[in-house]
Amino acid sequence: MRICVVGAGYVGLVSAAVLAEWGHDVTCVDNDEEKIAQLQSGVLPVYEDGLLEMAARNRSEGRLHFRVDLAQALTQRELVMIAVGTPAGKNGNPDLSAVWNVVKSLKECSTGQITLVIKSTVPVGTCEAVAEFLYHDEERFDVVSAPEFLRQGTAIRDYLAPDRMVFGCQTSRAKQVMQDLFRSLECPVIFTDWHSSEMIKYAANAFLALKISYINLIANLSEKVGGNVQDVAQGVGLDRRIGPAFLKPGVGFGGSCLPKDTRALVALGEENGVNVWLLRDVLQINFEQRVHIVKKLEEVLGGLEGKKIAVLGLSFKPNTGDVREAPALTIISRILERGGKAAAYDPVVDMEALSREIPFIPALDPYDAVSGAHAVVFLTEWGEFAKLDLRRIRGLLKFPLLIDGRHIFDPQALKALGFVSQSYDSRPVLEFMSAK
Ligand code: UGA
Repeated sequence: MRICVVGAGYVGLVSAAVLAEWGHDVTCVDNDEEKIAQLQSGVLPVYEDGLLEMAARNRSEGRLHFRVDLAQALTQRELVMIAVGTPAGKNGNPDLSAVWNVVKSLKECSTGQITLVIKSTVPVGTCEAVAEFLYHDEERFDVVSAPEFLRQGTAIRDYLAPDRMVFGCQTSRAKQVMQDLFRSLECPVIFTDWHSSEMIKYAANAFLALKISYINLIANLSEKVGGNVQDVAQGVGLDRRIGPAFLKPGVGFGGSCLPKDTRALVALGEENGVNVWLLRDVLQINFEQRVHIVKKLEEVLGGLEGKKIAVLGLSFKPNTGDVREAPALTIISRILERGGKAAAYDPVVDMEALSREIPFIPALDPYDAVSGAHAVVFLTEWGEFAKLDLRRIRGLLKFPLLIDGRHIFDPQALKALGFVSQSYDSRPVLEFMSAK
């Protein structure tokens, strides 16, 4: 098939690379000239395991092209996939201007029968509005809502082995095109209407956010009344009706999706007079987790004025260089507001660029960040952090306060090394039982 993927972010690039890998002729278009120039010279604007190799292979074999000119890229295509960003706009509603720009260009520039697949996360009702606009004077378009559930950091793996696929289609022709396009994937497939498909995406992300805030609420309670939240999470998650995923307590969720999509659902509820307190609380608990860490620092250190805090991990999760809505940004800003200094290290994030926006001290490595600091805070569970020489870290700190916001370390081991640590006991119950 001749396919045009619009948007060279995570979803667009992964879709384009995988579709080319399956043998289609794919043009990926983005209006960011610098990004396209990078892609044309073989440099990826995002850090994603396996994507560079897949994109390079398909480019060199002539199946994958990168362009800036949307009108040109849309000509003579059978399938157009929209994967542009829908950032937070006013009142928590996503800004759909990039989606509408593509739809308008499509109506003007394309010819022949086209299946339009909307992969961007869009509010309920968007596909219907797009279809009304496109069908107004001609019926050569089929509109499909195809929400994407991949995670950053494991994007290719998720794309190739999804838990399920969801398509909102109104015609049998569109359904057939989707069946053909994704025929090599084995997973449950739901064909539904546009509205339900759009809602599935929001409901799924808000539910994941809810699980995280829920376990953080239980963690805070356990901290007060005694109890090991890791054991609690394991004991709760082994119930198959609940499941163990997304019950990892800590500093909470960030990224470009969970916070934004939960806020969008809150906005939808408010506009429609539906009670969405539950989701407001999910967001509030998540924010409090960040505040909680700064409060701990202040409490233990007796204020932050003139104190240096080492922050290890800036990205919102490991295996990505993305810092959108990352807990580290809120925490560093608060440390600075309270007169403290922050020295930060992340193995992938462009620290120099970020430090021009938030004036922290970019460190050369974790030990450099920790050197002479009054405390160290871990905010991303990068694999390399688990291998750090904690004895050396302890020796470099002015005061042995370690806050493990991602449960990387065994608290007993930290205690034995002389750290004043702030995290929960992580004795794994199952291992203990099998050892007996
Ligand atoms: C999320 C969803 O997981 C994907 O299914 C969805 O496709 C994507 O949003 C999207 O809408 O595009 P992503 O934002 O890449 O994916 O990251 P997640 O793996 O969901 O993690 C989000 C945040 O939650 C991270 O900050 C992570 O550290 C945090 N988290 C996750 C926890 O604090 N505890 C957990 O138990 C799990």
